[in-house]
Amino acid sequence: MSGDPITRLTLRRPDDWHLHLRDGAMLRAVAPHSAAHFGRAIVMPNLVPPVVTGAEALAYRGRILEALPEGSDFEPLMTLYLTEDTDPADVAAAHAEGIATAVKLYPAGATTNSASGVRDFDKVRPVLDKMAEIGMPLCVHGEVTNADIDIFDREKVFIDKVLKPIRKANPDLRVVMEHVTTQDAVDYVRDNPRNLAATITTHHLIINRNAILAGGIRPHYYCLPVAKRETHRVALVQAAISGDGRFFLGTDSAPHTDARKLEPCGCAGIFSAPVTMSCLAEVFETAGRLKQLERFTSLNGPAFYKLPPNEETITLVKGDPLEGPAHIGTDDGAVTVFDPGFPLHWRVEA
Ligand code: NCD
Ligand code: ZN
Repeated sequence: MSGDPITRLTLRRPDDWHLHLRDGAMLRAVAPHSAAHFGRAIVMPNLVPPVVTGAEALAYRGRILEALPEGSDFEPLMTLYLTEDTDPADVAAAHAEGIATAVKLYPAGATTNSASGVRDFDKVRPVLDKMAEIGMPLCVHGEVTNADIDIFDREKVFIDKVLKPIRKANPDLRVVMEHVTTQDAVDYVRDNPRNLAATITTHHLIINRNAILAGGIRPHYYCLPVAKRETHRVALVQAAISGDGRFFLGTDSAPHTDARKLEPCGCAGIFSAPVTMSCLAEVFETAGRLKQLERFTSLNGPAFYKLPPNEETITLVKGDPLEGPAHIGTDDGAVTVFDPGFPLHWRVEA
């Protein structure tokens, strides 16, 4: 026997290396949920219009700080949305001034609010060259958008057709493959140790594509990249629990109102911020790797981003199943919270 089961776990305060905080009423409603558990977050720039320049990132950062509860020391790490017109000098200045931590690459049309993204990758070469020179990471939404590529193959094709050529042309560029969903992406990151890491979301560790499509269509499990078959989910869990420093948490918590989720053409995105740490504790406990959770949530990410891990800690406590809210209210309407489909016994101690 392996001794008494663990019922309390103290770890360094986690960070979220991929988060959508939105703006306005939605920002004010969701930001406190991330700030309650996380120390920092890489904040996605896909607002409408997108956050492209250093000045826009600085202004957005100010709005986020205003939306935080009194006394919160949550630190938003800003990203710039890469367009074909992005100015390398503006990117470099925003990085030097500590305004922007990374640049986000969306292939045009890949996901929610990505219309301003990149079509012709040659056009962004000067920006990528500058980023390689100054050591600024590129966060990549790794899906091709061609209508003739099956949606379940878009990540794998992106690796071959887009990511490999970018990294070959620019081996010094530091790249984060965000929200990886396939064994192919896990293998690619494992086999290419230099200047490459990957984030994994909460929900992709828990659901496979059956959650969306079997027994009725379930829009609240629809996100991009779309969840793949079970073998891929298992590969993601293996990567997350392995302790390998190249894999770390990016929740991709992406709130949309229920009205927007349930339209005939509903939005992609899963809102998981309030329950992420509870979900992850269950996943790591089930795998017998609870002690590796801290590496995934609190140590690997800072190491890749060359930032110190948080000094503060949080404590997870195991008890009766959580009676958490299924929705949160916002002035824009209700937002459904991710339901992992199993009881959550772990909560973050206040
Ligand atoms: C994100 C969103 O809603 O902004 N949606 C999602 O399904 N993950 C965009 C994204 O990260 O792809
Ligand atoms: Zn996202």
